[in-house]
Amino acid sequence: MAEDISTATPQRAIPQMGDAYFDPLLQDAGEGLEGPGGAMHRYARRPEGFMLGAADFDPETWLLSRQPLYTEAEHHRWRLLFDNQRKMLPGRACSDFLKGFAALEGAMKDGIPDFADLNAVLEPATGWRVVPVPELIPDNVFFWHLENRRFPAGAFIRGGKPKTLKVRKANEGAAPEHIAYSQVEDDLFYLQEPDIFHDVFGHVPMLMDPFFADYIAAYGKGGRRAIEHNRLKNFGAIYWYTVEFGLIQEAEGLRIYGAGILSSPDETLFSLYSDSPHRIALNVDRVMRTDYVISDFQDTYFVIDSFEALHKATAGRDFGPIYQRLPAGFTYATTALLDTDTVVSAGTQEYKFNGGKGKPRAMAHMDRLRTAHGR
Ligand SMILES: [Fe+2]
Repeated sequence: MAEDISTATPQRAIPQMGDAYFDPLLQDAGEGLEGPGGAMHRYARRPEGFMLGAADFDPETWLLSRQPLYTEAEHHRWRLLFDNQRKMLPGRACSDFLKGFAALEGAMKDGIPDFADLNAVLEPATGWRVVPVPELIPDNVFFWHLENRRFPAGAFIRGGKPKTLKVRKANEGAAPEHIAYSQVEDDLFYLQEPDIFHDVFGHVPMLMDPFFADYIAAYGKGGRRAIEHNRLKNFGAIYWYTVEFGLIQEAEGLRIYGAGILSSPDETLFSLYSDSPHRIALNVDRVMRTDYVISDFQDTYFVIDSFEALHKATAGRDFGPIYQRLPAGFTYATTALLDTDTVVSAGTQEYKFNGGKGKPRAMAHMDRLRTAHGR
């Protein structure tokens, strides 16, 4: 962790289709990476549909030295997702998200954004930067980046998610290692792990908000203590129910700030309009004891009044004594309603109790929502 990467700027070039360009780390089908000085130093045409690209990978920071080179098909995929989800935002995303989004939209609308373009807007605003990572990174590294106002974003886009992640040692004594993706087509709207669309479209606009920016940095700082106290699961629930799936009560009505919702058109409708999930005023102690749903819509959403209040409820508190009182693991089921809850709306749990994703009656529930809200 000692290496100072605070001045490193991820760089990326977008090649024109059919252009030959120099990429010493590019590999051919069936061949391995040779490393610097080997046979791979040559001009190469990127094989469309085969791989996302290759970049230096630092196993200590888990960062790529730059974003991979994306194909036109990948940029097209981004534009599909972007145009689709952009239409969902008005009247649904919270005002601070929309403000941040407006500032960043120019860097996002024409294809997979160059992080340098995003950072040119983001860094002067709140000191945050987006940095590319090849896959989900370990918790301790993730927290360290957050604490230092670096937001790790997956470098690949869904639909071309890495089937095999190849990390090869560079030549003896030569760091860093190299990483490359093999590309496999899969379903555009089925997201197995956070990709660049979720991470950038969903998360980065909120990092433009000063209170939220401070909140996430403070969250990163708290992560180390949570690991020390063996309460990482509980601490993770705070992130899950705020940063990923949070709702906020605004003067005009309920709005979304969670990135997990804002990068999913269906959950955008479900979280706001479905009568199935509970919506409960956020209480940090309660949230830390509550299980959550990983592979389907949430059974419960927690609602905040302001990001300032959220920041105060977390950053200003000493979690040490709380961890000592917290039992290991979760106490409350995802569908629980407690006497002590401030309930915004009690859900029917119809979607959940009909089996959720893929089950006929749950899908009929979603069809009704889409019809009612014009999707
Ligand atoms: Fe996320």
